[in-house]
Amino acid sequence: MDRIVCRRTRCARGRPRSRLAALTVAVTLTALAAALLAPTARADRHRSAPLRAPTVSQIKARHYVVMAVNDLGMHCFQKSYAGFMILPPANFLKVQIFRRGGEGAHLVTRGVKVSYSVIDNTRSANKTDFWTYAKFYGWPNLKPNVGITGKKLTGTMKYSPAQKAWVADAVPLTPYNDKLVFNPLQLGKIVVRSAKTGKVVARQPRFVIPVSDEMRCDYCHGPQDTAGSILQAHDDANGTHLHADLVAGTPHACAECHADNALGKPGVSGVESLSQAMHSFHADKMSAVSVSPDCYACHPGAVTRCLRGAMARQGFTCTNARCHGDMAQVGNSQAAPPAGSGRQAWLQEPRCGGCHGAKFSENAGTLYRMSFLKNGPEGMNGAIRCESCHGSPHAEWPSTNARDNYEPVYNQGLATFIRRCITCHGGESGGIHGNTGG
Ligand code: HEC
Ligand code: HEC
Ligand code: HEC
Ligand code: HEC
Ligand code: HEC
Ligand code: HEC
Repeated sequence: MDRIVCRRTRCARGRPRSRLAALTVAVTLTALAAALLAPTARADRHRSAPLRAPTVSQIKARHYVVMAVNDLGMHCFQKSYAGFMILPPANFLKVQIFRRGGEGAHLVTRGVKVSYSVIDNTRSANKTDFWTYAKFYGWPNLKPNVGITGKKLTGTMKYSPAQKAWVADAVPLTPYNDKLVFNPLQLGKIVVRSAKTGKVVARQPRFVIPVSDEMRCDYCHGPQDTAGSILQAHDDANGTHLHADLVAGTPHACAECHADNALGKPGVSGVESLSQAMHSFHADKMSAVSVSPDCYACHPGAVTRCLRGAMARQGFTCTNARCHGDMAQVGNSQAAPPAGSGRQAWLQEPRCGGCHGAKFSENAGTLYRMSFLKNGPEGMNGAIRCESCHGSPHAEWPSTNARDNYEPVYNQGLATFIRRCITCHGGESGGIHGNTGG
């Protein structure tokens, strides 16, 4: 532990600070952040018009239903990329459109033009320095406000046959609207036009696109030159020269050496994945912060509160053993010998079926966010994404945050998962799961 104090002293520009002092700073900062951010988030929430649930006849008068989600319940990125890059700003939007029908319903795969935008949020380059440094991280020609796959904050979506959804990949969103008000639950909007006439045929007026830069390495690595002290600690322990390179003008992406499935980067053979390295290494360091769960020191966060869905309502936390478990479990589950046979970060995560059983499970060998309903009423299977009816992981309907529930309220008139058949059909009765053949 002396070793840490000594390092921190050096990094804090000669101003000796005890471990306790650092802790106080961290706690004060949390309180400060909560005080500063919470009211603005509230103010921003009030900017939206009050939500009015549609009546049954209003729903039945619609020709289409638009089910839009972000593929994860939260996306994290860094406010500053000056020191290194973990992940770039990149939200993945998925939209399923169904033509409502009396008996059946139809997944719409063509004949329409689908566009997305973010309410009160039209550019990002003035809210993060990502574009100043993108060239160091493998994107030499990225124009400001354009994401790593070419998407902007507004644009058109393309149909993906594999995902059976209209998609916009890696939208470079930040949690700051155009007035620079912070809210990690940004609201997106979808407009569907007839490809032939250009007439608007359907819309989804409000759905959450979650993103936060509340990644608080500074709690422990100090508020001054946070990136510099992290890199110095890394160099001292592992013989790398990340800090010297930074001083010489070249920052690095962690995924250059540590495999990262979120970016599709294989890393250097023999070096632990970024997830394994980070969670296993920090597992016995977490008592230095009082954030609960401790995941919120690096994942958003004490203010953002990523975990807010149906299971949060039931009192579950991230560290429940049937969810992610603690730091050691997240890291060490990847270490099973022989190398490569352990859990694959990002690709193997906790399963709904692990608690709810086979009837309510995701499809074999894949994640919830890639799964489709397969045991619904005869004639209804293989086309509807679990997320279309239940929402994003961590934010499953009914969410504890009213913003997340805007979409099901608009689509079915109820602030919970899609359970009314009239959302897509004429009829109103029946169950979904386990009704195959019924
Ligand atoms: C709860 C406290 C805490 C938090 C939060 C934290 N760290 Fe650390 N980290 C430590 C301690 C303690 C060390 C060891 C310090 C040292 O060796 O100087 C360390 C060391 C490191 C190292 C060097 C690892 C090695 O091989 O020695 C890296 C890299 C690192 N942290 C990255 C991060 C990043 C990135 C974040 C934010 C996403 C972060 N840490 C958040 C406590 C923390
Ligand atoms: C130039 C290659 C390289 C880069 C870039 C790099 N690392 Fe490492 N890192 C290593 C090596 C090598 C080790 C030690 C061996 C291992 O982890 O398998 C290591 C170890 C670590 C450890 C300690 C793992 C442990 O269990 O002791 C952490 C934490 C870590 N790196 C985090 C990071 C983070 C965060 C970044 C980006 C800021 C980063 N690394 C960038 C090569 C690199
Ligand atoms: C010290 C910082 C730190 C803390 C604390 C932390 N994480 Fe992470 N976590 C990271 C980083 C950095 C990544 C991104 C790794 C990447 O890009 O591959 C990550 C990624 C993940 C992922 C996706 C990759 C995977 O392994 O499947 C999961 C899940 C995860 N963390 C769970 C948790 C949980 C649960 C906790 C609390 C028990 C936690 N993390 C605490 C830094 C941290
Ligand atoms: C750690 C265990 C656990 C996991 C994992 C889990 N759930 Fe739950 N969930 C529960 C419990 C317990 C309840 C409350 C009792 C019940 O309704 O079964 C619940 C309730 C629900 C409800 C009903 C909410 C309501 O208010 O009626 C839905 C919907 C739901 N879960 C969906 C999911 C989905 C989708 C996943 C996967 C993304 C999932 N659950 C993963 C334990 C879990
Ligand atoms: C998210 C929209 C959606 C909801 C909600 C929904 N369905 Fe469906 N349903 C569909 C789609 C899409 C099809 C056609 C699937 C295909 O063509 O592959 C379908 C087909 C069916 C069929 C087969 C009709 C035929 O002609 O083959 C039945 C029966 C059915 N649904 C019953 C129900 C019941 C009962 C409910 C409520 C408990 C319900 N559906 C809720 C979208 C939905
Ligand atoms: C067409 C909408 C729809 C789709 C698609 C859908 N579900 Fe459901 N889900 C429901 C309804 C409605 C219920 C309530 C129970 C019932 O009707 O079977 C439910 C219940 C659940 C529950 C249990 C909640 C509880 O109270 O115990 C879980 C877990 C769940 N679904 C997971 C999934 C998973 C995983 C998928 C994809 C493989 C999926 N659902 C696809 C509508 C849907």
